Amino acid sequence: MNLLVRTERAGDEADIRALTAAAFADMPHSGGSEPAIIDGLRASGDLALSLVAASEAGEIVGHIAFSPVTIEGGEVGWFGLGPVSARPDLQGQGIGSRLIEAGIDEMRMRGARGIVLVGDPLYYARFGFVPDPRLAYPHPGGEFLQRLILSGEGTGGVVRYAPAFG
Ligand SMILES: CC(C)(COP(=O)(O)OP(=O)(O)OC[C@H]1O[C@@H](n2cnc3c(N)ncnc32)[C@H](O)[C@@H]1OP(=O)(O)O)[C@@H](O)C(=O)NCCC(=O)NCCS
Repeated sequence: MNLLVRTERAGDEADIRALTAAAFADMPHSGGSEPAIIDGLRASGDLALSLVAASEAGEIVGHIAFSPVTIEGGEVGWFGLGPVSARPDLQGQGIGSRLIEAGIDEMRMRGARGIVLVGDPLYYARFGFVPDPRLAYPHPGGEFLQRLILSGEGTGGVVRYAPAFG
């Protein structure tokens, strides 16, 4: 599929919301809060990077968000990856991978120290994400926290997402 990956622009908000709601609708681990989280990050200035994948026709078929995280007792310069969505009827065709790789490249270019996420290790290992016993995420699903170091030796501490994550 021919995809254009670009940063979100004014007017994309409703499409991103609808896409995210559709992508997470059938996910058992989701409470349906993902569209509101993205809106909340945007409102609070915590949407550090928001990329969309657009089809040739200009339709938004994928989206990924990055936001700053704090690592209590650890380094600054770390970001959280997610939510990430691909349109349900187009999943498994590389949209998610394109967005994740583009997002990682951009965060590296900006000088980020590393990226954390909570997700299925079977999927995210291919991008270099691994669990790290130095990092703690004391919340439901915390055992699925993984990290990707972008520079340095990594860090340890308690990971806190932006307030929009609730
Ligand atoms: C996760 C998601 C963004 C991946 O996008 P995608 O375009 O479908 O993924 P890609 O085509 O790049 O990669 C497909 C591969 O990922 C695997 N995969 C996709 N979602 C997965 C998941 N949640 N867990 C494990 N593997 C997954 C597929 O089995 C496929 O594996 P293969 O390459 O070995 O055949 C998309 O499936 C989605 O929107 N899911 C619903 C929302 C969601 O769960 N988001 C992530 C929350 S952590």
